[in-house]
Amino acid sequence: MKKYQGLPQRMPKNYSNFINNRIKEIREIVGKEKALSVLSGGVDSSTVTLLGYKALGKNLKVVFISNGLMRERESESVAKTFKKLGIKIEVVDAQNQFFRVLKGKTDPEEKRKAITAAFYKDVFGKIIREKKIKFLLQGTILTDVEETVAGIKRQHNVLAQVGISPEKEYGYKVIEPLIELRKDGVRKTAKLLGLPKSIYQRMPFPGPALAARVIGEVTPERIAVVRKATEIVEKELKNTGAFQYFPVLMKDKATGIRNNKREFGNIIILRCIESADARRARPTKLSWKILEKITKRLITEIPGVNRVCYDLTPKPPATIEYI
Ligand code: XMP
Repeated sequence: MKKYQGLPQRMPKNYSNFINNRIKEIREIVGKEKALSVLSGGVDSSTVTLLGYKALGKNLKVVFISNGLMRERESESVAKTFKKLGIKIEVVDAQNQFFRVLKGKTDPEEKRKAITAAFYKDVFGKIIREKKIKFLLQGTILTDVEETVAGIKRQHNVLAQVGISPEKEYGYKVIEPLIELRKDGVRKTAKLLGLPKSIYQRMPFPGPALAARVIGEVTPERIAVVRKATEIVEKELKNTGAFQYFPVLMKDKATGIRNNKREFGNIIILRCIESADARRARPTKLSWKILEKITKRLITEIPGVNRVCYDLTPKPPATIEYI
């Protein structure tokens, strides 16, 4: 494993120039062809989609992949936000494909590889072939690249830097206008582009979505547990101003007692951190009252969850996500 040194962020001096240059570049590269943007609703993919739309107009095709791993009501809320900006989104149902490739896999890197292949080869590859598109616009940022290159974890959207040639392997070229930025730089760009606050201030969410928050096998049932837990945690912590907060479903189980009966139930870890750019993080000093309230909701509203733990580990040595 190479030493993790980090890469220099080339923060733009002038964000308006940065935006205009990226738009110009996208136009030059794509020419009269069409490009695809895959929107997840996060700040990175939203920013890239709007840059692409400004550059290409109707020649940018925007899709939302319903992969079964997203949060509650995600596709509806993303489509609504972008409709207001005049951008039409097609929702592509690929749930079965994702659960099929994840079946039986427990190793984190194996799960990531399976998700990458499902996204790029099966799902995007098919859309691109059918719609005769030559380019994929994506919101890879510097932090994704540096952690992957350093061998810390393979971010699903990092390709060329790990020796994958998208053109050779999937049949299309990838354009990454945000590759020099970290999260803070992307947020500034997003704001200046006119994206709503709900997007430019949205907390980071990993590419593998809720699959990154299920330790062990990712099944529809286990995703449903973490999805419900996510809804509770996001609601209860939304006013904390923390950089990121989410639950993680453990693979191990724990003995509990409910209605005077033994229960071998699920363990949920609560993570809530402070950070500027996700390179370093420390746990938020949440009040006991809030921790108790979340715990109570998780153990009463989600069947089978009988233990909740709060993670006090900083990054490093822990990463923010668990896989
Ligand atoms: P880690 O867990 O590496 O995360 O400290 C750094 C930031 O990147 C977000 N993020 C991802 N993390 N896989 C990840 O493990 C991904 O594909 C990914 N995409 C984004 C993560 O949520 C944290 O803010």
